[in-house]
Amino acid sequence: MDTYILGIESSCDDTSAAVLHNKRILSNVIANQEVHSRYGGVVPELASRAHQQNIIPVIEHSLQLAKINKKQLSAVSFTRGPGLLGSLLVGVSFAKSFAYALNIPLVEVDHLQAHILSHFIEDKANKLMPSFPFLCLTVSGGHTQIVKVNSYFSMEIIGTTIDDAAGEAFDKAAKILGLPYPGGPAIDKAACLGNEYAFDFSKPKISKLDFSFSGLKTSFLYTVRDNLRINPNFIEDNLNDLAASIQRTIIEILVEKMISASEQTGIKEIAIAGGVSANSGLRRIFTETARQKNWNVFLPELQYTTDNAAMIAIAGYFKFLNNDFVGIDVTPYTRATF
Ligand code: KG4
Ligand code: ZN
Repeated sequence: MDTYILGIESSCDDTSAAVLHNKRILSNVIANQEVHSRYGGVVPELASRAHQQNIIPVIEHSLQLAKINKKQLSAVSFTRGPGLLGSLLVGVSFAKSFAYALNIPLVEVDHLQAHILSHFIEDKANKLMPSFPFLCLTVSGGHTQIVKVNSYFSMEIIGTTIDDAAGEAFDKAAKILGLPYPGGPAIDKAACLGNEYAFDFSKPKISKLDFSFSGLKTSFLYTVRDNLRINPNFIEDNLNDLAASIQRTIIEILVEKMISASEQTGIKEIAIAGGVSANSGLRRIFTETARQKNWNVFLPELQYTTDNAAMIAIAGYFKFLNNDFVGIDVTPYTRATF
């Protein structure tokens, strides 16, 4: 059967729409919101307004690129949560009215599950996909989780952050260094030119498979602050080394927990997902660890790491096959639920 799914993502500051033909991607349009960069973080009210402006052109563009007519769509899938309420409401409301007008099913998708399921998008021939059960490290601006993925929709969170998310740690470190928001890509770029052992920052001692990044942020802040007293040009003089050292520390925290998770569960099928999975250092270390530990490691294509609607469409596709639909009384949620 030919299934065409429209995916809509509006949980934070990117408005995105994608069309899938079965598991194959036809289009994945993302409108980034420049408006937040001067504030050093996402301003929720500005994000909702920008989504309102972007959503119709983005969806039209995704249909044009996919070369399909909206009447060919089998279903509309959308991010129900977690995310910013005002931002979610724009995508949720549009999805409801669009599905209603076209008289096709409406499929709700969890944003974090979708990050994981992006590994199943068929974007190239003979793509290797994780087999169940696998472990996924989901690292984004809002979440840091180790998830045991038993099937497309049976997922258990076996580790999570008790304070900041990994992406937040990158963003806060970047802010301290005066780099633009979002900080992850800027740190990644500077880190490539630096010495990752130039500075040592304290690492948290957190039990089980949980994470903490707030102490690391403080340790980083104090190092920068104390050194600025001695050398006012400390940041300029050491930018690349500072970026490389904080990135190395964040990666070590993440990889050490994934090694424990794999040992505890006996699972060697390992995936990463979410915005931070775009990090070149993290990708390199996961590849190296895979060799040492005999893991099968799965790194998402860069276009599916940060927020995108292709992942919403693939998650929607699997739910569509299960006849898992929602009515137009569905409401968004802001916090992680599964
Ligand atoms: O998944 P995502 O697009 O949005 C959320 O669901 O939160 O993740 C955004 C996060 C931001 O914190 C951003 O700094 C981080 O992903 N990020 C990166 C890189 N690209 C994006 N962090 C480190 N290195 C990168 N290359
Ligand atoms: Zn995300």
